[in-house]
Amino acid sequence: MKLSYTIALFFSLITTAVFSQYNAFVPGKGWKDTDGMPINAHGGGIVFMHGVYYWYGEFKTAGRGGNTALKGVSCYSSKDLYNWNNEGIVLKVEENPNSEITKGCVIERPKVVYNKKTGKYVMWFHLELKGQGYDAARAAVAISDNPKGPFQFIKSFRPNKGVWPIGFKDEFKITSSAESNLTPWSPEWITAVKNGMFVRRDYDKGQMSRDMTLYVDEDQKAYLIHSAEENLTLHISELTDDYTDFSEKWNRIEPAGHNEAPAIFKKDGIYYMITSGCTGWDPNAARSFKSKSIWGPWEVLGNPCVGKDASLTFYSQSTFILPIQGKKEQFIFMADRWKPDNPIDGTYVWLPIKFNKEKPVLEWFDKWNLEVFNQIN
Ligand code: DGJ
Repeated sequence: MKLSYTIALFFSLITTAVFSQYNAFVPGKGWKDTDGMPINAHGGGIVFMHGVYYWYGEFKTAGRGGNTALKGVSCYSSKDLYNWNNEGIVLKVEENPNSEITKGCVIERPKVVYNKKTGKYVMWFHLELKGQGYDAARAAVAISDNPKGPFQFIKSFRPNKGVWPIGFKDEFKITSSAESNLTPWSPEWITAVKNGMFVRRDYDKGQMSRDMTLYVDEDQKAYLIHSAEENLTLHISELTDDYTDFSEKWNRIEPAGHNEAPAIFKKDGIYYMITSGCTGWDPNAARSFKSKSIWGPWEVLGNPCVGKDASLTFYSQSTFILPIQGKKEQFIFMADRWKPDNPIDGTYVWLPIKFNKEKPVLEWFDKWNLEVFNQIN
């Protein structure tokens, strides 16, 4: 008994010594977990609880079909942000073909927040029903008592059915028969989009929810920020106090601005958002915005990236902005380098956020660690 305990301890120490190897971030390169396997948590987000960071993401598989959900949402935990333990699949797809999260559906950009009132971990994600391409455009919610899961799927739906956004003018609530005949991207069409053509179209069945993120403010109010209106306009939708539904208070951000991949943070009382344009899995130039109120108006700040490959966000697309615990000025920009032909090969680009007055700046680092923050801000 004693001998086997000693052997087990020896192997566990060896494993820890071999795989607790990272003391820096190496953007865009392979990143292994503490078992020596590539981290598989794409389009992810992070929650911090009791000294531990939990990273949730899309579990991708090999081959062209690897962007559909064949397993579910994965979770990794870390105390130092460099070395991650695999906690397994915390939201599993279901075998039942009638389930909304049946194997082969699309689950993208899962994000988890903790609800202080209910003591539950609440996960939201973008769900596409199996075999329906990207038409369903649903927001989906699951809950758990434990950050390591299992998460229990609750429901998926289109947000804000039958509710107009804050301050939506009465004159825009009426559909004109002519607008459906406008030529896409013509000036008249863009004006119609800005004036809510797709909000009106989706009023009865609920607004679209594709790329998304979650944000909990200091007053514990939570928000889903989601690409809606055929990805032309972001919506910000307040959640109910238990974070499992919408309060029906919502607003539009950048109408006709064509933003995906929203990531949001707050510094010195100002909200910042970084997004991408819409070019499928291909990289494009990131955008940044700021606002004094989460409801806007959001001021356009331009591409936060500087230097070589800034126009392609260093070949990546935003997914989340992580505030480092206990550090007022330290935020990590998290992004994905997608590999649509073999999604499992996608890598992660994490970069420190610098500031130029009230503008976030992203600069490439081949390799960096948290000490960078002592020099950059
Ligand atoms: C870009 C989005 O940001 C991704 O999450 C994914 O939906 C792809 N488009 C699909 O083409």
